[in-house]
Amino acid sequence: HIPVLCIDGPTASGKGTLADRVADQLGYWVLDSGALYRATALAARCAGVALDDEPRVAALAARLPLHFEAGRCFLDEEDVTDALRAEEVGLGASAVAALPAVRQALHQLQLSFRRVPGLVADGRDMGVAIFPQAQLKVFLTASAAQRAERRYKQLISKGFSANIAGLLQDLEARDARDKSRSASPLAPAQDARLLDNSDLSIDASVEQVLAWWDE
Ligand code: CDP
Repeated sequence: HIPVLCIDGPTASGKGTLADRVADQLGYWVLDSGALYRATALAARCAGVALDDEPRVAALAARLPLHFEAGRCFLDEEDVTDALRAEEVGLGASAVAALPAVRQALHQLQLSFRRVPGLVADGRDMGVAIFPQAQLKVFLTASAAQRAERRYKQLISKGFSANIAGLLQDLEARDARDKSRSASPLAPAQDARLLDNSDLSIDASVEQVLAWWDE
């Protein structure tokens, strides 16, 4: 029986950093499920497939030539680690993630990340749809202003240009779409622990999650 710890929440709430740090502490694998939706959006763009063409986007998702190696992410032979982080790819991911056939196509792939000794799964619906039996489900939030600032720093540090007002608008639009879509709308699992990290350091957030894990 392989343990799973889910960290779900809205865009730029710090899920990725928290998931990586907690996984590091526990010696577990990480699933960055957003990367799968981002890779699907990128693959569609490269193949000239419209993001609302559900059957064709789902077909791409079902045979996504994605693999992870030494912390890098490859689509076919191409290193797309940085390309996946672009804001327009995030917006594309949010569009394809609203398509039920795409979510279905990525379901099995996400399950395959569950390997010994354990998995920390980061996303929107890890606790609700993909790993409903998980030992711990955390729903991570932060104020929109904090999240826009974090996303700004993240993009700048990767060499992208960005402005905070535009990012705030984008993330509010993305939140609205993620929450209102009919396929797996963003919401905490009934048995999720809520963690608002607006005023918490990363260390304090990691500590809180590990304390829950040890309960
Ligand atoms: O953190 P951020 O929202 O920028 O990016 P992400 O976690 O990489 O996810 C990108 C998009 O994929 C999100 O806006 C969601 O719409 C979608 N997504 C999803 O629907 N389900 C998941 N498990 C993960 C991501």
